[in-house]
Amino acid sequence: MKGVILAGGTGTRLRPLTLYLNKHLLPVGKYPMIVYGIESLRKAGIKEIFMVISKQSSGLYTDFLGSGEAFGVSITYRIQEQAGGIAEALDLAKGFILPEEKFVVLLGDNLFADDLSPYVASYVKQPQGTARVLLKEVEDPRRYGVPVFDTANNKLISHIEEKPDQPKSGYSVTGFYMFDASVFQLISGLAPSARGELEITDVNNVYAAAGGLEYDIVPGFWSDAGTFESLQEAAEKMKDLLP
Ligand code: DAU
Repeated sequence: MKGVILAGGTGTRLRPLTLYLNKHLLPVGKYPMIVYGIESLRKAGIKEIFMVISKQSSGLYTDFLGSGEAFGVSITYRIQEQAGGIAEALDLAKGFILPEEKFVVLLGDNLFADDLSPYVASYVKQPQGTARVLLKEVEDPRRYGVPVFDTANNKLISHIEEKPDQPKSGYSVTGFYMFDASVFQLISGLAPSARGELEITDVNNVYAAAGGLEYDIVPGFWSDAGTFESLQEAAEKMKDLLP
């Protein structure tokens, strides 16, 4: 299976650090943040990786990661010119995925301690044209996309609310999404949100509305290291995971 890592965006919540270095290259323990995502995919058997990066620090990615060989993967890079949203970044991978092919998407600031292989294996069994997301129980769901569960079918999410003031569950939708090539058709029908971005939550909500959004709940440590607090916590929790 192939994987797409999205490492564009501007990292405004980590300024001033991100004024000189792209967020996904900031240190988390001994390695730049991006290495943990690559390792999560590699461990799940995903070795063909399409990586979306921004122009900022783009040369540093190739300096450090190269072709990916030293990390046990093969990386194809693509620049996202402007931060037009997670779904816009994902659309750049269109030519990399074959018709009907299943693949995974990882947000570059999402760090998982768990082995993700069992969840990928579950998605492989799902019908074409459906999607799967990973959830994590969190203290403050208002910072994230929050799932509302389908009361008639406990395997399904009925819809996702993006950063709601009054969350309807105690979970975050993490930045690990499983789709097939149908997602690109769906993105082409999306309109930009109020903040002018193509939103991944709108993508997932199309699958949910069709009764095709399944989920797993991850038990181990998870963080989106997009704030100083979460970056520090991630460094502490992830530091012994890689040699
Ligand atoms: O981390 C999980 C959360 O990620 C989800 O719960 C939310 O539903 C989802 O919308 C997203 O929220 P964030 O506000 O944290 O997304 P952020 O704008 O920080 O972008 C996350 C990553 O996506 C970032 O590390 C790089 C990538 N990205 C983002 C944008 C806006 C791109 O590659 N290009 C982009 O244009």
